Amino acid sequence: MSRCLKKGCLQIAVLGCFIFLINSLLAEPIPFLQKHGTAVQLMVQNKPFLVLGGELGNSSASSSDYMEPIWPRLGQMNLNTVLVPVYWELIEPQEGQFDWSSVDDVIKKARAHDLRIILLWFGSWKNSMSCYVPAWIKTDSVRFARAQLQSGRPVEALTPFSRTNLEADKKAVTGLMRHLDRIDSKTNTVIMVQVENEIGMLENARDYSSAAEDAFGQPVPTDLIDYLAARKGALAPDLEQTWKQNGFKTSGSWEDVFGRGLCTDEFFMAWHYARYVEEIAAAGKNEYALPMFVNAALIRPGYKPGQYPSAGPLPHLMDIWQAAAPSIDLLSPDIYFSNFADWSTLFHTDKNPLFIPEASREPDAAVHVLYAIGAHDAIGFSPFSIEDNSPQDPLTAAYGILAQLSPLIFERQGMGQLEGFLLDKEHPTMETRMGGCIVKVSHDYTWAWSKGPKDSAPWPRAGGLAIMLDKDELLFAGSGIIVTFAPADGRDQAGILTIEEGTFNNNRWIRGRILNGDQSHQGRHLRIPYGSYEVQRVRLYTY
Ligand code: DGJ
Repeated sequence: MSRCLKKGCLQIAVLGCFIFLINSLLAEPIPFLQKHGTAVQLMVQNKPFLVLGGELGNSSASSSDYMEPIWPRLGQMNLNTVLVPVYWELIEPQEGQFDWSSVDDVIKKARAHDLRIILLWFGSWKNSMSCYVPAWIKTDSVRFARAQLQSGRPVEALTPFSRTNLEADKKAVTGLMRHLDRIDSKTNTVIMVQVENEIGMLENARDYSSAAEDAFGQPVPTDLIDYLAARKGALAPDLEQTWKQNGFKTSGSWEDVFGRGLCTDEFFMAWHYARYVEEIAAAGKNEYALPMFVNAALIRPGYKPGQYPSAGPLPHLMDIWQAAAPSIDLLSPDIYFSNFADWSTLFHTDKNPLFIPEASREPDAAVHVLYAIGAHDAIGFSPFSIEDNSPQDPLTAAYGILAQLSPLIFERQGMGQLEGFLLDKEHPTMETRMGGCIVKVSHDYTWAWSKGPKDSAPWPRAGGLAIMLDKDELLFAGSGIIVTFAPADGRDQAGILTIEEGTFNNNRWIRGRILNGDQSHQGRHLRIPYGSYEVQRVRLYTY
């Protein structure tokens, strides 16, 4: 090669490196979680992002044709994100042969409809069962071992005590994450990944297969003991209590350390499920480090482990899951029960930001999302089987309001300037302090003139959120609420200076009517009637 040609090649190579460097410097990081005050925000393309989501019914995304009419409706419902399963049986129909067409199709369609995606890995477990594993796993229970009940009966679900099971699942997830890195690292259509779905052992609290029995006789891993010891006094009450009753032992088998019983069986199983998930998540993140979470099936009152899916990422097992699975960013509740506020509170801790990947749909989803974001700085919310919602349902209005308010929410969340309210007949009022003011929020039906059928039970759920705009200025969004104000110091009286209805457009307030006279009960309160979803801005004064 002539010297001249060599020099030319060198120049091209240097230029190539330079362009690569500039591109990498300019490129947005892939989605990540970031602390903001006491809150945690999901950052997408370097900006905070509120997941106004909906999860598809389990089978919808297996057919592109079936999905065709659904895609445009999701946008009409004001969703910005759709939660979509990735079916192991579809992406790896033959062992080691991957077919990404179903994943590529949903990503393409989501982009065309201006939606982000959260992928749900339906891998080893889906609601305790293993119905989404490919046929080559289903039909080979010698290689891919199943869990077993105490009675000796094998169940269809895979055991987490099998390296072969784990390696097969891990291979599929790493393949998926590598694929996402290739096709989506610039566009970031996919913003998070759920690993497995509602893990938990049914019928018994733990697995009794021979591999499980071996593990049960082994010493409790020192990693877990060290983690628990470092947090003694601040562990989940059931765990702390069980360990304490057994003398806070720091070595020995599971029964030596925690005593004999269902609690111990569940702790043991939680550790092993979580270790399995950890290996998968860590390997997946090694390819492409999206935030990852697991979801929990909750506990019906009075149910015991095994009657409910034992050992899932539940509040009383949070310490064990967090010790075992540091690559999992969030432990998330699927809230189908009416005590929505209780479960949200249990899952929202200083180590676990709240994200709700599944919840029941109408009639309460609209107030639930406002409450979860106002009271718990939730990263997002997603009713299940969203394709069965109608764009006319209240959720559309609630998501529209949240989209308008999100710049204000991002600035103020984690700073003590956000509140949420959830009201029904059993909880008709809530009181809280915002700045210098005591805010009392009551259900619309508590008001004598409300048109609600007050004597018929149950009352519909009402609620919303409040944002502190300034010392004497608050913004309320929601439905079915009446708000009165008192100064926190108790000396003066708080009066309403003005109430405006309106909307935020690109962070600019566009006011509608000034609500006075009958609309504010002659200056006594702020009211958003039941059934209407509104934003109202109130200025207060003292006299
Ligand atoms: C919870 C599961 O996680 C979903 O996949 C779905 O099966 C729903 N239950 C059905 O209610």
